[in-house]
Amino acid sequence: MRLRRFISCALATITLFSLTACAGGTNSSKGMSDVTVEQTEFTGSGNTDNKILVAYFSYFDNTDSEKINSKKYADSMASASVTVVDGKRYGNNDIVADIIKQQTGADVFSILTAQQYSPDYDDGIVEQARTDGQNKDKPELASHIVNIEQYNTIIILFPTWWYDMPMAMYTFFDEYDLSGKTIAPVATSGGSGLVDTVDTIKKLEPNATVTEGLAIYQTDVVNSGTAIAEWLGKVGIK
Ligand SMILES: Cc1cc2nc3c(=O)[nH]c(=O)nc-3n(C[C@H](O)[C@H](O)[C@H](O)COP(=O)(O)O)c2cc1C
Repeated sequence: MRLRRFISCALATITLFSLTACAGGTNSSKGMSDVTVEQTEFTGSGNTDNKILVAYFSYFDNTDSEKINSKKYADSMASASVTVVDGKRYGNNDIVADIIKQQTGADVFSILTAQQYSPDYDDGIVEQARTDGQNKDKPELASHIVNIEQYNTIIILFPTWWYDMPMAMYTFFDEYDLSGKTIAPVATSGGSGLVDTVDTIKKLEPNATVTEGLAIYQTDVVNSGTAIAEWLGKVGIK
């Protein structure tokens, strides 16, 4: 059901894209903003005994989050990669990263691209991610982990984008050799779930141990604590 819901939505997007393309009204750079992000180095929380890291990507952290807008999801911002808690807006994966941190004490690292994405959901990011995925266009990153050797377990958390990981995750796996570490994948999505991403990660990091993944539906993120706790136990992290 959920997969069908996303597919019909995606098809509507493709149709819309074709129509605007025919009208000569779109170009691929519409999905990027002019904002260049400062290069930063992550050195952990200061507790060098901490062996668990959550490395996550969220659209919310990679755009002007105050300006995220969607005509299609105007009445339901949760569908546009935004969850509202107590009147405050968060990226779906910001919430999941925080829940995992509370349950494991993990350090938390946000994967940031060097150029921000457009806050326009429908014609901006959705189209940009589609063309980037088709072209295998890996964005440069702005945030970098200096002390990756400190961690033996990396929980990789990402939104499913066009049935795959965001291309920024491919840049991430290019940047770090995670040989010998345990990688535990988590995806939030509008229904597609992990798709083939666990196998993809195994190929990208052939000398790591990649656990069973966890898929969380986008409107369940706030209430995902129990599922996360069960999964952490199952894969032997906690
Ligand atoms: C560019 C883009 C592509 C998406 N593609 C899919 C998809 O293929 N399947 C799906 O179920 N959800 C898809 N979604 C929905 C997101 O996976 C979902 O909203 C996720 O929870 C967003 O997490 P975030 O707020 O941390 O970025 C897509 C969202 C965006 C912005």
